Amino acid sequence: MNRTYPFVPIKLPFKANQLSPYIDARTIMVHYNLLYKNYILKLNEELSKHKSLQDLTLEQLLSNPSKLPEKDRVNIMRYAGGVFNHEMYFMSMGMRGDTLPNAKLRSKINNCFGSFNDFKERFIAAGLAVFGSGYAWLVVDKKDNLMIIITANQETPLEHGLKPIMCCDVWEHAYFLQYLNRRADYLNKFFKIINWNSVEKNLM
Ligand SMILES: [Fe+2]
Repeated sequence: MNRTYPFVPIKLPFKANQLSPYIDARTIMVHYNLLYKNYILKLNEELSKHKSLQDLTLEQLLSNPSKLPEKDRVNIMRYAGGVFNHEMYFMSMGMRGDTLPNAKLRSKINNCFGSFNDFKERFIAAGLAVFGSGYAWLVVDKKDNLMIIITANQETPLEHGLKPIMCCDVWEHAYFLQYLNRRADYLNKFFKIINWNSVEKNLM
């Protein structure tokens, strides 16, 4: 994701109906067109006022909040986070069925969480523990260990010095059209469509 201002939306890495029935096309298109693209618009609007920030990538903007102009820091973090988090979410999906990560990632998961099923249970529990809006993440810490964390609103793991490799958006807009308030169902079905190739790539 080596892009800078003006940011253009990424293409969805799957067809709108490809994740159905786990996430239907309407939910995906509303999420992509109305929510994600609006973060792109708002971020560009903010950055148009700050020439010194226009050569920075999303990661650079988000990793050093103290270097952002104080007056617009909250908005820039919010909108850059909204772009980064949604792109990580969309890139986290695309396969179908009960797919598993490759041997390398699987053994890392086993080392850090006990087993793949333990990992899955803990990730779903984390997603359920988000009060209000936010994300569940699989991240790598500075000692190269995998961790599951949650973030609120459009906060990102980058501002905590963690490297994100996969996430699930648990804002209601991510699932409400299809699942109403059944977040646990949505999180369970999310495991049917994780794109492990993409997660493995982020790990490298
Ligand atoms: Fe979202």
